Amino acid sequence: MQDQNLLEVENLRVHFPTREGVVQAVEGVDFAIKPGTTLGLVGESGSGKSVTAYALLQAVARPGKIVSGRVLLRQPSPDQPGQSEIIDLAALDPRGRKIRSIRGKEIAMIYQEPMTSLSMMHTVGFQIMEAILLHQDVDKAEARRQAIDMLGRVGIPRPEQRVDAYAFELSGGMRQRAMIAMALVCAPRLLIADEPTTALDVTTQAQIMELMLELQREMDMAVLLITHDLGVVAETCQEVVVMYLGEVMEKAGVISLFQDPLHPYTRALLRSIPRLGQGRSWDLEPIEGMVPDPYNRPSGCPFHPRCSEMIPGVCDARPLTTTQMPDGRSVRCHLYTQPKR
Ligand SMILES: Nc1ncnc2c1ncn2[C@@H]1O[C@H](COP(=O)(O)OP(=O)(O)O)[C@@H](O)[C@H]1O
Ligand SMILES: [Mg+2]
Repeated sequence: MQDQNLLEVENLRVHFPTREGVVQAVEGVDFAIKPGTTLGLVGESGSGKSVTAYALLQAVARPGKIVSGRVLLRQPSPDQPGQSEIIDLAALDPRGRKIRSIRGKEIAMIYQEPMTSLSMMHTVGFQIMEAILLHQDVDKAEARRQAIDMLGRVGIPRPEQRVDAYAFELSGGMRQRAMIAMALVCAPRLLIADEPTTALDVTTQAQIMELMLELQREMDMAVLLITHDLGVVAETCQEVVVMYLGEVMEKAGVISLFQDPLHPYTRALLRSIPRLGQGRSWDLEPIEGMVPDPYNRPSGCPFHPRCSEMIPGVCDARPLTTTQMPDGRSVRCHLYTQPKR
């Protein structure tokens, strides 16, 4: 593992054996995140973004299973102060004590739908206090004080009253803020945000993103941001990973990705999605064709049936490899493995 990385994902594969066949939801994913930085994970619906996120925390829904790969996390050594240790999260027991000590403490996750993580049965304050009491050695009064403080920091008015509210008593935006408060209360080093604002109106989306970035700077936290909003990616991410059918098609710094996308899929994605200021809905070109049925994975490059630059006999036949570019980017496309003509 490289010194400067907080997390490294290597050849991660997650499969769902189902009656209709095996869904290869994540099929050999590699990426790394540096402390305090934001990595964007983009791709059409069904690309395996959420399954990747869940896999990092050993929280893939059954019957899904991590079938190969490593998820290396650097964390402070519990025994030697000032030293760090590296653990492979993919090798931990999904129900064991170690991964439970990491979920919520080292790595926290927020979802598109707050109801995934907020319960209807308990007050918001109770749930935030539970997270605090699980990971910190404090009493209930202190946990309540921290919960109120955090609710205030995420911009919930009158937090000393709202702490006793139930999630259903809050508006969508306030619920999202409460979920962020719950995720951030133990100051995780990595926040995974899976389409955190998709369900909200545009103004609230902008406020929530702004809030996340502010807390990120304050806490020096790394963020894995899953989104289909390339405008948000351009504004917030340093690195971008583009996924399609479980594979990383392209990985690049944000500026090179927008200025000079290499993969035909990345180019199609950029044409299909509105960008900051430019591109109205009538300028957009949807990507041709549909994401294939997950049980019938195309041979060769998974994108070949929809690709405008498909080379017959190559893209539909030969297994894909990843090409490392001299500038540090990588691309998984036969156009870059063929000798130049
Ligand atoms: N519980 C499940 N059982 C079977 N297949 C699943 C399950 N969860 C996800 N998948 C499949 O895994 C693939 C990736 O899904 P997902 O990670 O949710 O995509 P994304 O987040 O990029 O939209 C999809 O083909 C999806 O149908
Ligand atoms: Mg998803």
